Amino acid sequence: MSNSTGKLDGKIAVVTGGATGIGRAMAQRYANEGARVAIADINIEEAGKAAEAIGKGAKAFALDVTQQDSIDSMVANIARDMGPISVLVNNAAVFNLAPIADITRDQYRLVFSVNVEGLIFTLQAVAKHMVASNTRGKIINMASQAGRRGEPLVGVYCASKAAVISLTQSAGLDLIRNGINVNAISPGVVDTAMWDTVDAMFAKYEGLKPGEKKIQVGKAVPFGRMGVPEDLVGAAVFLASDDSDYIVAQTLNVDGGNWMN
Ligand SMILES: NC(=O)c1ccc[n+]([C@@H]2O[C@H](COP(=O)([O-])OP(=O)(O)OC[C@H]3O[C@@H](n4cnc5c(N)ncnc54)[C@H](O)[C@@H]3O)[C@@H](O)[C@H]2O)c1
Repeated sequence: MSNSTGKLDGKIAVVTGGATGIGRAMAQRYANEGARVAIADINIEEAGKAAEAIGKGAKAFALDVTQQDSIDSMVANIARDMGPISVLVNNAAVFNLAPIADITRDQYRLVFSVNVEGLIFTLQAVAKHMVASNTRGKIINMASQAGRRGEPLVGVYCASKAAVISLTQSAGLDLIRNGINVNAISPGVVDTAMWDTVDAMFAKYEGLKPGEKKIQVGKAVPFGRMGVPEDLVGAAVFLASDDSDYIVAQTLNVDGGNWMN
């Protein structure tokens, strides 16, 4: 029998892309705060390992956010196995980098189908489920400082994250009428597998040694270092908890001081 008094006791939280990186750290902290966590990821093997390591009733679910039937099955399966979803972290995303001259339609389609289309239709499916199950839910979208301004080599990813910030505003204003809070978190630079990809791509385009870009961006953060996934979890708990009930349609910078608004 647990006598925990966590900030998320009784909540059922879904973290998309929760098998690794920032989503994985959020899933762990949510479970520590008393939530039962569904880790929904295209990488079901890693999602299963994460759920097992987290314990506390965490379960893994297969999800490809680019496929509507996959989103619908995920929502139905979580509702059946765990109960009504009260928190969604829309965290799954992919990165790409290329100068404007080299962007291809395939790169563009992949980034937008995961980061924008996948995010909005996951949000839609979960919001409908929350309304149908009479749940006053919390939805947290993962944006990025890349969505705050463009960068010469990062046009498509920056545009996808600007779209996340805009969709957070529109969905936030719409869904609060149903008692659902939609907000976003905007990380800066966080040391995850995604940043290993970023580092390798910058190495290619800027003639840097592997690891050099990470050192550069870390030194430039006012806090004094690159972020780690655990730096993001406090904001994710706050935005999932009852303490944030009056916060609507906002994008919160959690980036060591890189961006101010
Ligand atoms: N790492 C950073 O510096 C940074 C900075 C700003 C914003 N972010 C954002 O934070 C979030 C997490 O980033 P991360 O660094 O932990 O990334 P990551 O690459 O480590 O993890 C992303 C996860 O998403 C999953 N995924 C990819 N495509 C999917 C799909 N079609 N359907 C379901 N799952 C899919 C992957 O399997 C992986 O588990 C992302 O939204 C990212 O854009 C990251």
